[in-house]
Amino acid sequence: RMPILEQCYNLMDFEAVARSVMKKTAWAYYSSGADDEITMRENHNAFHKIWFRPRILVDVEKVDISTTMLGTKVDMPFYVTATALGKLGHPEGEVILTRGASKHNVIQMIPTLASCSFDEIMDAAQDGQCQWLQLYVNKDRKVTRRIVEHAEKRGCKGLFITVDAPQLGRREKDMRSKFSDVGSSVQSSSGGEVDRSQGAARAISSFIDPSLSWKDIPWFQSITKMPIILKGVQCVEDVLRAVEAGVQGVVLSNHGGRQLDTAPSAIEVLAEVMPALRERGWQDRIEVYIDGGVRRATDILKAICLGAKGVGIGRPFLYAMSAYGLPGVDRAMQLLRDEMEMNMRLIGASDISQLNPTLLDTRGLSMH
Ligand code: FNR
Repeated sequence: RMPILEQCYNLMDFEAVARSVMKKTAWAYYSSGADDEITMRENHNAFHKIWFRPRILVDVEKVDISTTMLGTKVDMPFYVTATALGKLGHPEGEVILTRGASKHNVIQMIPTLASCSFDEIMDAAQDGQCQWLQLYVNKDRKVTRRIVEHAEKRGCKGLFITVDAPQLGRREKDMRSKFSDVGSSVQSSSGGEVDRSQGAARAISSFIDPSLSWKDIPWFQSITKMPIILKGVQCVEDVLRAVEAGVQGVVLSNHGGRQLDTAPSAIEVLAEVMPALRERGWQDRIEVYIDGGVRRATDILKAICLGAKGVGIGRPFLYAMSAYGLPGVDRAMQLLRDEMEMNMRLIGASDISQLNPTLLDTRGLSMH
C-alpha cells in the first residue's frame, strides 16, 4: 500500500514511493543514469566524504537561510533544476513544479524539452516568481534564437545553456523499457517528430547540436541580455575559460550521472574550482552552482560552505510530483527547509554568509 504523504520524512522516501507507483517507462526515464551508473551513485556518495567542523556557542536562535541567485532573492539556497518530460510522472507536468517553487520562493529552471509548453509554465507562475530557461541548442539557430528571445520577453531571468550533452548518454534502463506508451509528447518549441523506438533519452537527442563550441558564446551574448550560465561544466580549466568568455555563471554538473559515466561528482569539482578562482581573485566574477545527488540539507550546506551560490535538485522533485502531485513537491521543499534550519543551528551558522570552508573537513576528497 502506498504510504501517506506524512510518512515521507526525507527526499529518499519520495523515491521509494515513486518507484512503486510510477509507470515502468516513466520510472526508467527518470531514474536511469548512463552506462553502469557509477557517476550517478557517486553524486550522492561524494557528499559523505566531507565532514563538518561544527562551531559551538553561536547564537542560532534565529536562522536565515535566504540568499540571492543571479540577483534574485530566494528563500532557500536551492532551485528546481530542469528535467525533461514532466508529464511522464504527472498528467499536469512541469506546472506542478512551478507552483511548488512559487510557494517556497525558490527558482524553477524550465527545460527546453518540457512536456508543458513554455508559455503554459510561464503562465502558471505567480507574479514576480523567478524562472530560468534551460537551453538545448538546436542545429537550426533560428529556432534557438526564437526560444531565447521569447524567454527573455516573457521575463526569464537566466539562460542556462546545457553543455554536457553534445550527444545524449546511453541510459540502458531507459532504452530497455522503450518509449512507446508515452502519452505526453515532447511539446517543445523545437518542433519536429521524435523517434521513440529507443527510449525517451535517445528520442530527444536529435534536437541537440553537437557542433556547439566556445566560438558560439559571443553569439548568445549578442542575442540576449539575460545572464548566461553554462550548465554541465566538469573541470577547473573550463570554469576559468568560462570566466574569460564573460559568462555570468557555471553549473558544475554531470547531468545527474546521465551523460559521461565516471565523470566526477560536482562537489569534488567544486572543491577544486573555488580555490582556483580565489587564487586569481576571480571568485566574484562568476556565480558557481552545482547539481547532482543533493538529497539532504547537509549536502546543500557543504556546497555553500565550499563557495557555491546554490544547488540544483532534480529527481527528488520529480519523484515527489509523480507520487503525490503538488502536495508532494510542497512537502519535499518543506522537509528541506526544516532540515536546513536545523542543520544551520547544529553547525553554528545563523545565516548563509557565515558558511565558509573552515566549517568543513574535506580531507576525504580525492583532490587531497
Ligand atoms: C535531467 N537533466 C536535464 N538537464 C538538462 O540540462 N536538460 C534536460 O532536459 C534534462 N532532463 C533531465 C531529465 C531527467 C529525468 C533527469 C533526472 C535529469 C539533468 C538535471 O538538470 C540535473 O543536472 C540532474 O537531474 C541533477 O541530479 P539529481 O538532482 O537528479 O540527482
